Amino acid sequence: MPKGSLRELYIDELMDLYNAETQLTKALPKLAKASSNAELRQGFEEHLRQTSEHVSRLEQIFDMLEEKATGKKCLGMEGLVKEGAETMQEDYEAAVMDAAMIGAAQRVEHYEIAAYGTAREFARLLGEDEHVSLLQQTLDEEKQTDEKLTQLAAEINRQAQEAGEGKEYQGAEGGEGKRRTKSSSRRAA
Ligand SMILES: [Fe+2]
Repeated sequence: MPKGSLRELYIDELMDLYNAETQLTKALPKLAKASSNAELRQGFEEHLRQTSEHVSRLEQIFDMLEEKATGKKCLGMEGLVKEGAETMQEDYEAAVMDAAMIGAAQRVEHYEIAAYGTAREFARLLGEDEHVSLLQQTLDEEKQTDEKLTQLAAEINRQAQEAGEGKEYQGAEGGEGKRRTKSSSRRAA
């Protein structure tokens, strides 16, 4: 393989993605745990399951390439995860915190959408049709997650705005307060 080939770049991009997804599997449980809104929490939990699937799709591709999935740290994802962690340290009202975490999560999704779009295109050019379909499946799920976050934000942002006016946070399982309680079973259908 000539040094600097598109194939080499492609493998580099895949390693970067693999590391990014692995970092996410550690960050998503923290976002889920810090979510007050039940639907948002379920959304993060669902995306964690998908992210494990994304990791295993990349592993399948590495197997086909007979390459090891190691050797790269995704600094972009590291920065996004750090920013998300900083956000969670803030002393926000529950609804405002949920709105902030949606913002952090959407940055992650857009980053991944860009990276998967690039990798899929490289795979297509290299004639790796099986890779294309695996990468496309993940890309579709990242886009769906982004759209779902946008939908959740519509309601949560409105409630975040109202939080400053002292109104109860409807989406929260505990119904009010900065931290959710486990006492309420109220959640969206
Ligand atoms: Fe992913």
